[in-house]
Amino acid sequence: MFKQALVNGISLAYRDEGSGPVLLLIHGFPLTHAMWNLQIEEFKRSYHIIAPDLRGFGQSGGGNLEQFGTVDQYADDLAALLDTPGLSGQKVIVMGLSMGGYVAFAFWRRYARRVRALILCDTRSGPDTEEGKQDRYKLIEQVRQRGASPAAETMVPKLFAPETYNTRPDLVGEMAGLIERNNPAGIVYAAGALAARPDSTPDLKHITVPCLVVVGQHDALTPVERSREIVQELPDWQLSIVPHAGHMPNLENPAFFNQAVETFLRGVEKTNASSAF
Ligand code: MLT
Repeated sequence: MFKQALVNGISLAYRDEGSGPVLLLIHGFPLTHAMWNLQIEEFKRSYHIIAPDLRGFGQSGGGNLEQFGTVDQYADDLAALLDTPGLSGQKVIVMGLSMGGYVAFAFWRRYARRVRALILCDTRSGPDTEEGKQDRYKLIEQVRQRGASPAAETMVPKLFAPETYNTRPDLVGEMAGLIERNNPAGIVYAAGALAARPDSTPDLKHITVPCLVVVGQHDALTPVERSREIVQELPDWQLSIVPHAGHMPNLENPAFFNQAVETFLRGVEKTNASSAF
């Protein structure tokens, strides 16, 4: 079911499906919850899926998008969403891809007690380099002048493995469409948030919940090496490298991706069940 909730003064849109333990899905930049459609269909059979459009994206309102955002604001919106009736008080499993991973780190810093497990997909713990920040500001200027198209032009050529461009033009077109339909002000807000995000690396050794780190073997945006750096610091981790996939393994190789997530989730359920006695 597609729902809207009033949180922190804005209307946040989200998919709410299934029942069971809560699995919160956080999308990447500059996409929407729709990038998780295959996972929503798969995991709603055993989980209560909450898949929001972050502030300023998709069908969510933005509030004051004139300024740049922060990853903390996104995390606060998610925490407020999880306070809505029917959800409050439950610990959640958080799955974030790329920007969704940066937001998951912020969520952990601010709401660690609410997190049962983390699934960190195609992300990195470090902040932007100086060059990376300059690229963001360049993109911000272009989006301000020309709307969402420059974001699609910049991002789409980097999202997928080379073979995906050849074999799945439908998928490539779908993601380009999602980006182009987004509110340019939301993209600017997010790009500012990404440029300003803090270094999450020092937090990694304190993340005591089980973590699955997943990455597409051919990810050009957050290469496998970034995931290896993350697991070097985490106390309780599993690493899954998804073949035939770039930055969007959940879409490029959903069978492998979903299997890795499902195996991890089964382990989380087992640990929680045994620690309950
Ligand atoms: C994403 O997919 O969310 C972006 O690649 C994140 C980024 O640009 O750092």
